[in-house]
Amino acid sequence: MKREVKKAVFPVAGLGSRFLPATKASPKEMMPIVDKPLIQYAVEEACAAGITDMVFITGRTKRAIEDHFDKAYEIESELMARGKNDLLQLLQDTVPKGINCIYIRQSEPLGLGHAVLCAAPVVGDEPFAVLLADDLIDGEPPIMRQMVSVFEQHQCSLLGVQQVPREHTRQYGIVSTAHDGPGPWAITGIVEKPAPEQAPSTLAVVGRYILTPRIFELLRRVQPGSGGEIQLTDAIAALLEHEKVLAYPFTGTRYDCGSKFGYLQATVAFGCKHPEVGEEFSAYLAKLNRC
Ligand code: UTP
Repeated sequence: MKREVKKAVFPVAGLGSRFLPATKASPKEMMPIVDKPLIQYAVEEACAAGITDMVFITGRTKRAIEDHFDKAYEIESELMARGKNDLLQLLQDTVPKGINCIYIRQSEPLGLGHAVLCAAPVVGDEPFAVLLADDLIDGEPPIMRQMVSVFEQHQCSLLGVQQVPREHTRQYGIVSTAHDGPGPWAITGIVEKPAPEQAPSTLAVVGRYILTPRIFELLRRVQPGSGGEIQLTDAIAALLEHEKVLAYPFTGTRYDCGSKFGYLQATVAFGCKHPEVGEEFSAYLAKLNRC
């Protein structure tokens, strides 16, 4: 029987230390790109892939995420009273129709692998997606939609990958593949944050995964790895011994919004195509360039 991906896990319990002090008391995933928080882009992407159950792995200072996907009675009735129907609609669309939001608390930020393991009781024995909201990926069709289509065909775990400059390998999980044709490719090895001279390739895993539930039993056995954290990459390396795992070179542009530079790039790109301010902002940038 063909399995379907209906659940998505959003690990949002990280410290966000690269954005301090902005992330001292509020979550990195609530930082807006123009007028929408990063986490909402990720939820909309999962929704566009036909996923209905959104599982957030939250931590300290993350209450704003729960509030964001909840009904906002006071502001809604205020907008209704003032007849601001467009804004009311915008607010009500924050939570796409027919989705369930489930929140699990990661008591300590012990690593991405540990955060994903926290979702095990809710995910159960099903394949599931993982989306890291700070990797904002602009693509058509949306990236998770592309990945779910590949999963439907191959019925195995799948990692979103892209080529990165060799000097950046220390920031990523790096895969080796049986590189043949346009992809997806079978992964033959994966290593977390290798030094450029030791990296087996320059093909980096970015924040989109579809995983089979066997990953949970492997995560339970993983020892702290790079940075003293329970690494998802180490469990995927173990998964390779049991199952096929594919690297999927998605079509789209990725912005690393966990870094200041990537965040600014995303703001400019999304600002320039924003229906309300895009034209004015683009003209402003063009004027700056001429100075
Ligand atoms: P990052 O490596 O970007 O870490 O985590 P971070 O803590 O968010 O940010 P910096 O490096 O301190 O600036 C990758 C993803 O994994 C989640 C983060 O929220 C982010 O989406 N994560 C990480 C957890 O949910 N729990 C953890 O224990 C670690």
